[in-house]
Amino acid sequence: MSTAVRISGKTKLYGVIGHPVTHTLSPQLHNTGFNALGLEAAYLPFPVHPEQLQPAVRGLVALGVCGFNLTVPHKSAILPLLDEVSLIAQRIGAVNTVRSDDGKLLGTNTDALGFLRSLAPLDLELRGLRVGVLGAGGSARALLAGLSESGAARIFVCNRTPERAEALVSSLQQFAQETEMVAVSLSELESQPLALLVNTTTVGMDGVSVPADLERFREIRNVVDIIYRPPQTPLLAQAQRLSIPHLNGLGMLLHQGMEAFSFWTGKLAPEAEMRAALNSALQAD
Ligand code: ATR
Repeated sequence: MSTAVRISGKTKLYGVIGHPVTHTLSPQLHNTGFNALGLEAAYLPFPVHPEQLQPAVRGLVALGVCGFNLTVPHKSAILPLLDEVSLIAQRIGAVNTVRSDDGKLLGTNTDALGFLRSLAPLDLELRGLRVGVLGAGGSARALLAGLSESGAARIFVCNRTPERAEALVSSLQQFAQETEMVAVSLSELESQPLALLVNTTTVGMDGVSVPADLERFREIRNVVDIIYRPPQTPLLAQAQRLSIPHLNGLGMLLHQGMEAFSFWTGKLAPEAEMRAALNSALQAD
């Protein structure tokens, strides 16, 4: 899949701001999307130190950049620099996508919707069901904001540091109309029949450790690990051994990017091409 970009005086510029940004797959993802639709646009990584965020954003606006993504550590720090922030990004307290409309900066967060869209291969109707979430960091927050709109009956949040799970649940419960959120211990989580268990912790990125032992659970019908490096974490390997349908985080990465692409261009993102770009970028990793 070629990500070659055409550059002219009319090229629209996009990018990602992070620190570090050396491992980002977003340039391959978006440049492939622009190419596939014949858009004259280019997407670049911008390494920006935390204390340089404000001048960097001012500079991007001054240069006429049309939109950008934010990654660690800027997702919350960007909030006061924006003119408008979508409701979902306000709830999550973090922005991963910004569009510049004639210099007016509109921020949103595509992680929650990206996660929900990524569940499609599981053919899972969450309405009325129970979901378990491992972890209570930034990713868990985005997922919970999305899951609370899925109509799930109860979401159980389990974290190594229980106070963080409790704080997360109490700050998001007010927005969840049909869903009850509860902070639980690992043994309480294991005793629940779960339609879905999602790992949002970083445990498993090393290819060795597991955040939970699936065999100890009463019932788990589906497992998602939002980690995509490695593509199969030990948790997902265990799900496979136990014949539990499972997904890694590649779909979430793809769909959050597709939502950002549409937010910027107003066009439906080319899924097949963007998925292939991610797969080949990961293989080349
Ligand atoms: P992210 O933005 O990717 O969610 P984060 O905010 O740093 O990253 O959160 C990382 C999550 O992984 C947290 O839930 C963290 O648990 P703590 O809140 O107790 O720190 C979890 N985590 C990281 N290392 C862990 C480990 N070795 N065992 C269990 N949980 C771990």
